[in-house]
Amino acid sequence: MNRPVFAANWKMNNGPTLAREFMKAFIDQFPRQNDRTIVFFPPALSLATVATALGERRDVWLGVQNVHWKDQGAFTGEVSVPIARDAGARVILVGHSERRHVFGETDDETALKCAAVERGGLTPMLCVGEKIEERDAGQAESVVVRQLRTGLSHMTQLATKDIMIAYEPVWAIGTGRTATPADAAAMHGVIRRELASICGDRGRVTPILYGGSVNPGNAKTLLAAADVDGLLVGGASLDASSWLAIVRS
Ligand code: 13P
Repeated sequence: MNRPVFAANWKMNNGPTLAREFMKAFIDQFPRQNDRTIVFFPPALSLATVATALGERRDVWLGVQNVHWKDQGAFTGEVSVPIARDAGARVILVGHSERRHVFGETDDETALKCAAVERGGLTPMLCVGEKIEERDAGQAESVVVRQLRTGLSHMTQLATKDIMIAYEPVWAIGTGRTATPADAAAMHGVIRRELASICGDRGRVTPILYGGSVNPGNAKTLLAAADVDGLLVGGASLDASSWLAIVRS
């Protein structure tokens, strides 16, 4: 397995006050570790609080949950890659299931966003995953491959620049219904093969994270599955003790 990546997606939770309390508890109990990468995706308004709390902890990365594909302009309410970078972000989540299915984000928009992240010198974490009806219809692989290929299609430096992929089956997100390690390994294998054909050698070391109802009880087994290089965690990342248990897996 590649060096594992543990990513906390706080979604629309933890404003600056709660973020400060969370980070104090986390930093007190999690000394620097060189064998894993930790990423926090706080809501944009809590990014500065988390960055301040982290201080010199370069082993913990910061990210934002969504960006616009333009670098600047009259786009009320949006955040751009240069703004995210200026605020201390290193990773950008692109095409999260809730962006796609609640806010109607398309594959083509994820492609524009990944290209903007590359242009801005940050790392995209492209999220892919099928809905339950697509899985039941036997289309899970084709949906994931389409999301992956389209999402990466405008990037020009895939052979040399870092990217991350998160496989999050929509039916497993926030439902308590986790994919089995075998389900995860099967789809991660498909993604790994596609990455090798899209990015060449670099595809073999691109981290592929699993997400969807990860908790302290299932983290270790999911991480042990073939081609699972990390975990992207929603609900269980909101509580410092369950998040600490997961990152220690
Ligand atoms: P849950 O861990 O709450 O299922 O959320 C997963 C997710 O969407 C992380 O991005």
